[in-house]
Amino acid sequence: MSEKTGQGEQSGKTWGGRFAEATNALVVKYTESISFDSRLAKHDIAGSQAQARMLGKVGLVSPEEAKALEEALQAIGQEIDQGKMVWREELEDIHTHIEQALIARLGDTGRKLHTGRSRNDQVATAMKLWTRNALDGVAAKIRELQRALLESAEREEGVIIPGYTHLQRAQPVLAAHYYLAYVEKLERDHGRLMDCRARLNKLPLGSGALAGSSLPLDREFVARELGFDGLAANSLDVSSDRDFLVEFVSCLALTAVHLGGWAEEWVIWSTTEFGFLKLPDSFCTGSSLMPQKKNPDVLELMRGRTARVVADLQRLLVLLKGLPLAYNRDLQEDKEAVFDAVDTVSRSLEVAAALVSRTRLNRERIGAGLEEGFLDATTLLEHLVRRGMPMRTAHECVGKLVRLCEERGCKLSELPAESFDGVVPGLAPDVYGQVGAASAVGAFVTVGSTGPARVREQVAAWRGRLFPSA
Ligand code: ARG
Repeated sequence: MSEKTGQGEQSGKTWGGRFAEATNALVVKYTESISFDSRLAKHDIAGSQAQARMLGKVGLVSPEEAKALEEALQAIGQEIDQGKMVWREELEDIHTHIEQALIARLGDTGRKLHTGRSRNDQVATAMKLWTRNALDGVAAKIRELQRALLESAEREEGVIIPGYTHLQRAQPVLAAHYYLAYVEKLERDHGRLMDCRARLNKLPLGSGALAGSSLPLDREFVARELGFDGLAANSLDVSSDRDFLVEFVSCLALTAVHLGGWAEEWVIWSTTEFGFLKLPDSFCTGSSLMPQKKNPDVLELMRGRTARVVADLQRLLVLLKGLPLAYNRDLQEDKEAVFDAVDTVSRSLEVAAALVSRTRLNRERIGAGLEEGFLDATTLLEHLVRRGMPMRTAHECVGKLVRLCEERGCKLSELPAESFDGVVPGLAPDVYGQVGAASAVGAFVTVGSTGPARVREQVAAWRGRLFPSA
């Protein structure tokens, strides 16, 4: 047998026929991917089972052989699940492990599974199936976080907080509006994932190594079996296409950026200086030296791990840069970046949802400082505009009023009537109903604004979307 099959089958390789020498031990170690691609096992098996059914359907294997292949693949999958499969570096990757296990069980029938297939379209298929599943998992976690944010919006309904630009007090907003801002960001993240899913969901299998096959493979059948919406149309493209991974990780990178921004905000809000919220003890850590410390490490790690995911995206882009068609072994390096990005963002989303649902705003503290910083100045400006004053003039007048307040060390609502009338004759009688954070928030009316009626509409709309059965 060794005469006939060269170095291949003795060592369990699938490509040994033309080799006279065994692979150098350094090369075995250098080229293996089983140490990380065993994660693809379930999806490689699903792809192979569809392949086996298809081969049976088109008569490249007998119905009995197709059945035997499918059942043996099932059994191998269970063996892997139970941790019974021994990983061997010389078998390179998950695909070869599974095929060799199949051959060990079925002999010549096992040798037929790879008919019309290459590891190139096989790995692309397994990666797409893995990615589709991971993408659905992340999308579900995004929904969980959105639900936690919406429940916080409902819980804190009516609470007014300062809104910031440049991290300086700007205008008052409803806390519900604040929470819904992140619901919106996450909605776009979710939408991007769905766009990515739709584009990736084209079957690679049946493209062979790079040129297709001369055998009568039924690709449409395989696509249906595996839940793909159609076929990847060009075999050369299939062999090199990792766009779906770049898109997916770029979606994840943006989600990580959103989470990192939110984490930073809550780090700031949890400081003694701000005190807008008290993080639950169970989500904080202490200091080995300073006994009083309670640190927001979870939020800091979330902020810090954004770097990982952005780096994962960069790693993929640089990996693909300058690669000619079609398959190149460089592509094996795609996996760890994607796995890391998925693991990192999934955990962050999970922790964020748990933290959001356990954290309460410190309403007293927020309320006590709410009239600081002239949050109502812009609403007063718009009041002047409603009275017929040109916007630029109104800006000037309110600027003067703020300066008067600073001189006196008071708020707009505490300024005497003469001061208002001195700047804008006749303003005093109804101005007191316009100033103060609560009046200011109450004055907003535009679609998308923090006006209470608008926010109530948004909360109700999100309730319907995020909790459809309730
Ligand atoms: N482990 C390889 C990968 O992940 C499988 C493909 C190998 N193909 C080849 N032509 N050497 O890319």
